[in-house]
Amino acid sequence: MYVDRLMTRHLSTKAASAKVASITAASITAASAKAASTTVPVHPLLAERWSPRGFDQEHELGEQALTALLEAARWAPSAQNSQPWRFLVTRRGEQAHGQLFGALAGGNQAWAGAASALILVAARTAGDDGSAQPWALYDTGQAVAALVTQAQADALSVHQMGGFDTAAVRAGFGLDDTLTPVVILAVGRRDSGADLPEPLAAREAAPRTRQPVGDLLLPVRLEPGLAAA
Ligand SMILES: Cc1cc2nc3c(=O)[nH]c(=O)nc-3n(C[C@H](O)[C@H](O)[C@H](O)COP(=O)(O)O)c2cc1C
Repeated sequence: MYVDRLMTRHLSTKAASAKVASITAASITAASAKAASTTVPVHPLLAERWSPRGFDQEHELGEQALTALLEAARWAPSAQNSQPWRFLVTRRGEQAHGQLFGALAGGNQAWAGAASALILVAARTAGDDGSAQPWALYDTGQAVAALVTQAQADALSVHQMGGFDTAAVRAGFGLDDTLTPVVILAVGRRDSGADLPEPLAAREAAPRTRQPVGDLLLPVRLEPGLAAA
């Protein structure tokens, strides 16, 4: 009797472990289907990040989750610590969200409304005295990269969009001339993308591609004018 009970428990534990193993294997496969294929390993946070169009329209971005994203951006490096990035946060259901959504290009409106938040990213490309801030766009991109990586660590996804009407955003939110709207971020929890229309569904399933590292390298040619003294 005791042995029977023990066996039953052992078998159910084994069955449970097998189930956990299969779920884990399935999630790893699911996570890896879009993972970057690299010649040497890179950190999973980078390799497994991608830009989905399928978002869970039930998911809400909590205050703490949002703050973590903004903190990650806040601590990005910038030229002379100028911190030129600015964020206008709107959540699904808010009036401002509707306004930002309305500025998106049609192709982006087809999917981005399901994301929990739309965040306008702007860069302070001119100082108060009108002086140019040559690194502002670069710095702002770095802040977004940090935000995106934090999102990945927190099981959130970000899809950046350059396809929007910058004039409408500038006018609609009263941005002054020192600010340049850069991208709108769709932020939320990824879903299967099963509801996406074609051709978006096909794109969602397609593997991600990149140029080989070798194509990114400039040839090292030493011109006489630059020779070390
Ligand atoms: C500055 C910028 C603008 C982008 N604009 C759009 C856009 O308007 N619509 C869109 O669907 N994706 C947009 N993307 C997403 C890219 O298409 C995507 O990052 C690229 O295809 C690589 O795919 P991955 O992020 O899944 O690796 C943009 C990305 C960046 C960084």
